[in-house]
Amino acid sequence: MSQLIVLGVQWGDEGKGKIIDFLTEFSNIVVRFQGGGNAGHTLIVDGEKTVLHLIPSGILHPKVISVIANGVVTDLKLLNEEINNLSKNDIIVNEENFKISYNTHLILPYHKMIDKYREEQRSDKIGTTQKGIGPAYEDKAARRGIRFQDFLDKERFDKLLKTNVDYYNFQFEHYFGKDKLDYDELVSQSDHLREFFLPFGEDTRLMLYNASLKGEIILLEGAQGSLLDIDHGTYPYVTSSNTTSGGAIIGTGYAEYSKTSVLGVFKAYATRVGEGPFPTELHDETGELIAKNGHEIGATTGRNRRVGWLDLVALKYAIRINGLTSLAITKLDVLSGIEKIKVAVAYKYQGKTLPSFTNNIEILNNIEPIYQSYDGWDNSLPLNTIRVYEDLPENAKKFIKALETMLEIPIEIVSVGPDRNETIVINNPFR
Ligand code: IMP
Repeated sequence: MSQLIVLGVQWGDEGKGKIIDFLTEFSNIVVRFQGGGNAGHTLIVDGEKTVLHLIPSGILHPKVISVIANGVVTDLKLLNEEINNLSKNDIIVNEENFKISYNTHLILPYHKMIDKYREEQRSDKIGTTQKGIGPAYEDKAARRGIRFQDFLDKERFDKLLKTNVDYYNFQFEHYFGKDKLDYDELVSQSDHLREFFLPFGEDTRLMLYNASLKGEIILLEGAQGSLLDIDHGTYPYVTSSNTTSGGAIIGTGYAEYSKTSVLGVFKAYATRVGEGPFPTELHDETGELIAKNGHEIGATTGRNRRVGWLDLVALKYAIRINGLTSLAITKLDVLSGIEKIKVAVAYKYQGKTLPSFTNNIEILNNIEPIYQSYDGWDNSLPLNTIRVYEDLPENAKKFIKALETMLEIPIEIVSVGPDRNETIVINNPFR
């Protein structure tokens, strides 16, 4: 196996960044393939915290090449800031260790503005991150998107930009009653960014293919989570990309199926940020305690995350739609001290057990989760000090084994704290 897709399999914020950073040690290339600056991947190494939005989580490893592939929507202004912030912390991003696909679509200021105006206007809000993600993917599908390769060619870019600025200004003025964008200002901002980004362009499809021929190890880094997938998530309360494993193939143009494994990352409980159904959501003190212990605040928007019990109906669905080969469980330490840990094992709707997870929002909002309870473990031995599976408290091991039995795939990694080294590897997916 020379390629690993690592995905969040709940509603995002599963702790993928940490798992990817950990696995990067065994990789040569780390690739983002969908989403954009809506992601917030928090990495902690030796107590030092780094939050990444666009740059792949591999960047902390100096010998690894980080790639933004075609499926990502890229905000170059945000990316420029992120690179500058990293360099302040002595993390160097240059054309040697960072590549941007010529085909990635750009997020431009009008995308962020319209994302915000629409959210303000909607009575039934999605709760987007307002990073312009949906509008940028819309432009891509409408074939008026501007790609990185267009941006690198000033003449082409300025022409495409003019058409789009006129199109959006009409809506800003006549539909939203807002100020118009100044085209000339956008051109000069873009000229400045072009100079900076010129060296980073790459045919990343070919690069990945050639790397694979040389036997290099490629890690594909998902953003958001499976239940936010535009096709398979809780539509319309989803993001605008395919967050599931198929998105990794489309989003890179690299399809080495026979060499690929798919690792799903899930939290020992569940969270959701933004609107939309959440069958196992907690509205009680236990939920508050988990939120507090788990520091459940969004890394991108600073919003409080909603918290609930682990949902195995949703997780089984995610295993199926992604073709997962194994799992990583994160934040097990957050459940320490909780006397009875619950997990949803079935859904009941109008007295009947549902056969599977559903995308029907009406049903999801009205189902009754059926829970199974597990005895918890106390705080006497801090879980984040444990490095070997056998040393975990008996009840924590029973909990993990019960999950594995019900989910029918192996749990290979157990994360017991936010730091890179607070990780128990039962089986390294790269070995
Ligand atoms: P958008 O991706 O900004 O369009 O937001 C659509 C939905 O996805 C909202 O509910 C967001 O809160 C959610 N979302 C987007 N990115 C993330 C993420 O990285 N983690 C968790 N939720 C996210």
